[in-house]
Amino acid sequence: MSTLVIVGAQWGDEAKGKLVDVLGSQADVVVRFAGGNNAGHTVITGGKTFKFQLIPAGILHPGTTAIIGSGMVVCPKGLLEELDRTLAQKPDLGTLLISSAAHVVFPYHRMLDALEEEARGANKIGTTSRGIGPAYQDKVARFGIRMGEFIKPELFEMRLREVLAYKNRLLQMFGSPTVEFDALYEEYSKYADRLRPFVVDTEVLVYKAVEADKKVLFEGAQGTFLDLDSGTYPYVTSSHPVSGGACLGTGVGPRAIQSVLGVCKAYTTRVGSGPFPTELEDEIGEFIRDKGQEYGTVTGRGRRCGWLDLVVLKQASRLNSLSGLVVTRLDVLSGIEKVKVATSYDFEGEQIDHIPANVWDFAKVSPHYEEMEGWDGDLQKCRTMDDLPSSARRYLDFIEDQTRTPVAIVSIGPDRDETIVVRPQLIWG
Ligand code: IMP
Repeated sequence: MSTLVIVGAQWGDEAKGKLVDVLGSQADVVVRFAGGNNAGHTVITGGKTFKFQLIPAGILHPGTTAIIGSGMVVCPKGLLEELDRTLAQKPDLGTLLISSAAHVVFPYHRMLDALEEEARGANKIGTTSRGIGPAYQDKVARFGIRMGEFIKPELFEMRLREVLAYKNRLLQMFGSPTVEFDALYEEYSKYADRLRPFVVDTEVLVYKAVEADKKVLFEGAQGTFLDLDSGTYPYVTSSHPVSGGACLGTGVGPRAIQSVLGVCKAYTTRVGSGPFPTELEDEIGEFIRDKGQEYGTVTGRGRRCGWLDLVVLKQASRLNSLSGLVVTRLDVLSGIEKVKVATSYDFEGEQIDHIPANVWDFAKVSPHYEEMEGWDGDLQKCRTMDDLPSSARRYLDFIEDQTRTPVAIVSIGPDRDETIVVRPQLIWG
């Protein structure tokens, strides 16, 4: 079997897009399994910058089939804009397919996202306001409209009438304007007409590709600690970014997964609210944000930046059954004299090395740090481990020791070439 799951090992934005692009060149099928256009995957190649939100980053390779899996929620308007933009940049793309079981995001989801955030008051999550939470709520409540229904005009009309009547009562309760059926149906039917050729039962296709020993890459979005169950609830997204989500969101079973790579930055970032023990609200945090251009692809918000947290990575390794780590943005830390790494937490007088499940407890932990020698110079030119400064190599060794997870790949810049493959055997199993 040649199957690989790529997940974010922190709170998202770990530069998974670049990795999926690099490894996507080797894959026959790339299938994304969770989230919607709350994600933002940037790929820089050949002097061009591509920004993906819904389309799997693997689409840039013409021989690849790029699948929007059943675990995703899809904004049709956003998807079409993204497709047109990408085609204008690069006409020779891979084949795009959309699972008929993926759910559709409608404007009332975005309206409800804003209203729910307002209702949370001081405890607001800081969502991307793309309607993601309400779309997944509909899925669980059995009110969701799936792609397979959306592209069949009569079915779509029947389902939209049923759902919209209910949504409008909800919107009225909030004192919000309601959504008019005819205008919505007309606008979205046009999107459905354009998307129809892409919609199939992709689950069979993915299964057959796995069975035929094709290289199948399962592309994660967001990060482990934004997972609805395993993350820092309620400051999470509404899907399953952990490796188990690759099965739930594409229709394969756990034994179809061969290898799992967890992508982490050499430091930590977080957008939105929620505890962040190693957060740096000082000039080093500023330095990382500026040098790493840590601003959200989707919202443009400045990301919160902090030291690498190995408690987070140890837990990510366990939750995802990681085969290996991909450490990205090592170049950004270059120029900091002493770097710190959290190895455990103090919690109510005890030393712990896990994240308390109760987020209010997690907010009380204080990290224990190991201080290490920093490094200097332009890492972007390095192409082998031996090219890296010795203190950067020691930093990577320390990560491996503490997490008991081998480093498979190190990324030292945004471009495809700025990648050091340390252990190729971990990639496809
Ligand atoms: P939602 O997914 O828009 O509901 O947002 C829920 C939380 O997940 C917020 O804290 C968002 O900032 C965060 N989030 C969602 N998608 C991403 C992502 O792709 N990268 C980083 N954070 C994200």
